[in-house]
Amino acid sequence: MTSGHLQIVVCGAGPASDVAHLVRAAQQQSWTAAVTATPSAMAFIDVPGIEELTGAEVRSSYRTSPSGRRSLPSTDALVIAPATYNSINKIALGLADNYAMTSVAELIGRQVPTVIVPFVNAALAARAPFRNAVASLRDEGVRVLLGPDHQWEPHPPGSGNERQRSFPWTMAFETAAQLRQLVRDTSAR
Ligand SMILES: Cc1cc2nc3c(=O)[nH]c(=O)nc-3n(C[C@H](O)[C@H](O)[C@H](O)COP(=O)(O)O)c2cc1C
Repeated sequence: MTSGHLQIVVCGAGPASDVAHLVRAAQQQSWTAAVTATPSAMAFIDVPGIEELTGAEVRSSYRTSPSGRRSLPSTDALVIAPATYNSINKIALGLADNYAMTSVAELIGRQVPTVIVPFVNAALAARAPFRNAVASLRDEGVRVLLGPDHQWEPHPPGSGNERQRSFPWTMAFETAAQLRQLVRDTSAR
């Protein structure tokens, strides 16, 4: 029996190449997982390796999958990681200009427990549009793992390769699982 289904959305930043860590963290707790990628993220990830690990097609476009399925599978939690400056700003504004962004917009709208793990440098994170986007997403109930409470801070420009090694994949999954449990406990009352 599975504990839940995790939808993962990866964006175009270095840690995308390590997304298997998140898939494995979910699978170790008996969750299933599937990966959707932004068009930019496709250059960072090992598509056949992820498909073998998850048993699910990596989706990046609107074309019909081999199963013929067009609609989103039932999803218990959504993790967007690594989330780029670009995609975080778009998600906050509700933009849906590719398959990944459309999926995210719809899943947040369905109130699926959602965790975003940004991977941005300090210069980008200092911009007002980004700060506003993070605040707006938090207002909407999305858990954004950024700042001292989460021990995950923007890195100095040019240090992304080193920071990639400490990307908090396990914390991303654990937070998503906790949010999902909260929803279950609340609806059982
Ligand atoms: C090698 C490489 C590394 C990048 N790293 C980052 C990054 O760490 N954070 C970020 O926000 N953008 C990064 N970018 C820029 C994004 O890929 C770019 O803004 C892209 O448009 C993001 O698209 P997406 O948000 O649809 O995935 C990187 C680009 C390249 C080519």
